[in-house]
Amino acid sequence: MLTGKHILLIISGGIAAYKSLDLIRRLKERGAGVRCVLTAGGAQFVTPLSVAALSEDAVFQDLFSLKDESEMGHIRLSREADLLVVAPASADLMAKMAAGLADDLASTIMLATDKPVLIAPAMNTKMWEHPATQRNMRTLQDDGVTAIGPGQGDLACGEVGAGRMSEPLQIVAAIESILIGQVTAAPLQGRRAIVTSGPTYEAIDPVRFLANRSSGKQGHAIAAALARLGADVVLVAGPNNQPSPPGVAVRDIESAVQMLAACEAALPADIVVCAAAVADWRVAGEAEQKMKKDGSGQPPALALVENPDILATLSQLNGGRPSLVVGFAAETEKVVDHGQGKRRRKGCDWIVANDVGPGTGVMGGDENTVHLITSQGVEDWPTMSKDAVADALARRIADHFAVG
Ligand code: C5P
Repeated sequence: MLTGKHILLIISGGIAAYKSLDLIRRLKERGAGVRCVLTAGGAQFVTPLSVAALSEDAVFQDLFSLKDESEMGHIRLSREADLLVVAPASADLMAKMAAGLADDLASTIMLATDKPVLIAPAMNTKMWEHPATQRNMRTLQDDGVTAIGPGQGDLACGEVGAGRMSEPLQIVAAIESILIGQVTAAPLQGRRAIVTSGPTYEAIDPVRFLANRSSGKQGHAIAAALARLGADVVLVAGPNNQPSPPGVAVRDIESAVQMLAACEAALPADIVVCAAAVADWRVAGEAEQKMKKDGSGQPPALALVENPDILATLSQLNGGRPSLVVGFAAETEKVVDHGQGKRRRKGCDWIVANDVGPGTGVMGGDENTVHLITSQGVEDWPTMSKDAVADALARRIADHFAVG
């Protein structure tokens, strides 16, 4: 989506600089050319080598470097980009920009540029709230600088509050809306979505449970992608280690029964995406105390009962059925056939079918190869990162509502 666009990324000093490495990857993934400038402070947090390797370009650090200046002067650096992004933007660099100082490469570029500028501030809460920083922020906005964040949350310094740098994908969305001028940056505004993600844990006794290997990566990525397109998202998630997607209301649950209850409580919704790997069975009569070996050498007989099918239940709601219900079909063989059968049986509108056979690396991995099965037929999507699958699915959902 950013093919042919050139971004000059200035990384200033702050612990959030590590997130800028991911930002470079996300921008490259979307086809953008990324050239980086590292301030002296930034170089305390990330190395020029990692930045160069990820951006696949030289990294510029010195204002008075004879070599850099002869190959690519600071004026050209600031002019050859379509957009200048400062992430993280430290309080110090913001102050220099607001005052028009030019005493290092980054601040000189900012003064010399004629291109749009996006900053992603990151700093301690007190520094952010300080009247001087707030005054500088207003000055920068008056000068036409766009800012994203900072967000609220736990800060690296141990304090809690405003000051966290926005997540790389939020910064990417801001970059896209500046560069592509997306009129429909929020096509799902006003739509409510429920996404299920992760595994479920089915208790055997207070310490043991039945579970599966789902990581929650794909479901969480879908919740994040829908939120980026403006949807109001409730993410009903089984136990997982994924960060909470920004702007998404997360309901943590453990069992399938709890997942269904949380989904029902989140209704009404326009969109449901069931990406969770729900356990098909739970243990009948969960033991109240930890089960013990009884010395007989005989294992306990675990009786199982079938769990409610959340996808089928929501697909077949009599009143208030969400208008688009999407399920997943993780299969190890005949992926499309099984997916089509599942779509009919469960009554959902779309099925995202994928091969999770041994060797595909899908369970817990970062990539996914999916087929989108709708009433119109089957689309075979290329292998993509789970984030890219999520983005593509969210866009397809937005298109569906735009047409319908
Ligand atoms: O039947 P199967 O588990 O293969 O179907 C997968 C799809 O159904 C996924 O979308 C999954 O989230 C959903 N599902 C569900 N509740 C269940 C079992 C599966 O929502 N109890």
